[in-house]
This record gives sequence, C-alpha cells and structure tokens, in this order.
Amino acid sequence: MSAQKLLVLGTGGTIAGSAATATGQSYAAGEISLDAMIADIRGLGLTVELVPKPIARIGSQDIGWEQWDALHGEIIAAQADPDIAGVIITHGTDTAEETAFLLDLTLDPGKPVVMVGAMRPADAVGSDGMRNLANAIRVASDPKAQDRGVMVVMGDTVFAASDVRKAATSNIDAFKGYPRGPIARVTPSSLDWFAPAHRVGSTARFQWPEALPRVAILTAGAGIDAMPVKALLGIGCKGIVIAGMGQGNAPRVVLDALAEAVRDGVPVVRSSRVDEGMVDRNVEVDDDAYVFVAARALGPAKSRILLMLLIASGVTDAKAVQAAFDGD
Ligand code: SIN
Repeated sequence: MSAQKLLVLGTGGTIAGSAATATGQSYAAGEISLDAMIADIRGLGLTVELVPKPIARIGSQDIGWEQWDALHGEIIAAQADPDIAGVIITHGTDTAEETAFLLDLTLDPGKPVVMVGAMRPADAVGSDGMRNLANAIRVASDPKAQDRGVMVVMGDTVFAASDVRKAATSNIDAFKGYPRGPIARVTPSSLDWFAPAHRVGSTARFQWPEALPRVAILTAGAGIDAMPVKALLGIGCKGIVIAGMGQGNAPRVVLDALAEAVRDGVPVVRSSRVDEGMVDRNVEVDDDAYVFVAARALGPAKSRILLMLLIASGVTDAKAVQAAFDGD
C-alpha cells in the first residue's frame, strides 16, 4: 500500500524561525524554508508522504488577505484531489486563531486541515516545532480527524478552530480553548480524541469572498472617550468590534458614539477584553435599545473575522448578525 499523502502549506512563523543564539530571546520568524523543515521531519522516518507548498515566509502578524486567499485556494484543490488525505498549515502562533477560524467558516468539513506552529524557534534550546509538526502529521493522517473542520495542534493538544486562542505570550502551552477545551491529546506516538466529529453533515457557513471589508477592534479602557469611534468611522470602517470591559461594557459616551455608527449602517459587536467567558445580550448594556450585537462565546479576534465575512456577504442587519453570532 502506498503511503498517505499530506499537503503541507508553509507560511512562516516561529516554527520556521531562526534564533541569533540557541539560548537567547531574539529571533526572526519564517527564516527556515519549508523544504528544510520537511527534510528534518522526514529524518524522523514517519510513514507518510509530505508534499510541501510554500505560501509565504512571514511572521503571522503580517498575514492577511493575500495569504488567506492562497491558503483557501490550495485547500479547495486538495479537497478535490483524491491523492491528498489531509492538509497541514505551518503558521505563526500570533494570528493562528484568526486564520483557523476564517478557513473553518469557509470550508466544507471532510479532509482534515491542521494548523501548527511553535513557541520557540527551530534552533532554540527546547524548541517545540518538530514535535508539534510530528503531532500535526499524526492528526492529519488519522481517519478520525475527518469532519472536524480546521484544527490547531500546539503543545500536544488539538483544538477546534471555533474554540482556540493564544492565551500566553511565550509559554509552550500557550493555547487554550473556549467554550470547549481540547478535543484531543496527541504525541508523536499516540492520539486520543475526546469529542465527536462536530462538523459531520455541515457545510461551509460562508462562500469565499472577493475581498474582506475593513473591520476594526476597539479596546475599551477606563476614561476612553468617543473620539476613537469617530476616528474609525472617519477611515471608513464598515464594522466595529468593541473589546469591552467585563461583559463587553464601555463608557456611556462610547456606547452613544457606537449607536450613532449603527444608525449610519455600521454594525457593532460587543465582545470582551477579558480572557474568557460569554458576552450575552442586554446584561448591563441595553443591546435592544442600542441595536448592538453580543459576541456570545467569541472573543474580539474571532468576532472580527465573523463580522468581516458577514459584511462581505451583504449581512449587516443587527438581527441577522446576532443570529450568526448565536451560531444559527
Ligand atoms: C508569528 O506569529 O509569526 C510569531 C510568533 C509565533 O509564531 O509564535
């Protein structure tokens, strides 16, 4: 029997990073080529065939439309290719949450799509990149990984794109899931799933757009006034996500300015700057009166991705936007 073939799409990040010294802190993301990474992992003698396809060699803070469009196109082609069993994306960890969620919302389930990164560059002492990549290969080649949508593999843990976020700046176990925690634990020699394949029978929630609109995240802070809201409208933002205090709160002057934005046709989503938890409707802020949308379980980064896709699909009415954030 021939070996399973996995497409590996490389974008850069710390997993392809090179440090000035093995013990120092500074490094450059995306320095190591995908071919070199694949040659290293092949040295482990894994029984899969890896097909490398470089997309970019950048830190994920610079990821945007161009790379997303290329990734989406490659995955659609891989889904249609009977020779390819699954897809791995090597990616920086800073915006892994956003890329994973965007792809998850716009791809049918089926073949596994596994994103993987590293917290330490490849040549740093205690680097986690090769182990994470070996784990990602294990997940992407597992028949039980089918129909789970896009997943992120970090620190021996598998998360669904809809839950995952980066929650620490430098720890090896930097990723967390909310509302669900990990859906599997993985090592190079084991894989244990805890949750059923949650996307069986579903389809992509959105068509891949022609472009994405400008949507900003505004973080509320004590003493903030209405000027940042006015500035965002002044640069043509088509939607605003407020990363509010606590349950998505903000000073009255900010809420009033946001209500004006809504009246001008700019949808406003209230999420929270707090690390974890629900933002529900009409708790401290009267969403019905302000015509705001509550982000529910989504944090600011995911809220922005979902709002961009909604606006790109022509959905701006608060009720319809709320239904999408409710998961309907
Ligand atoms: C990046 O996101 O590209 C830098 C940080 C990382 O990969 O961990």
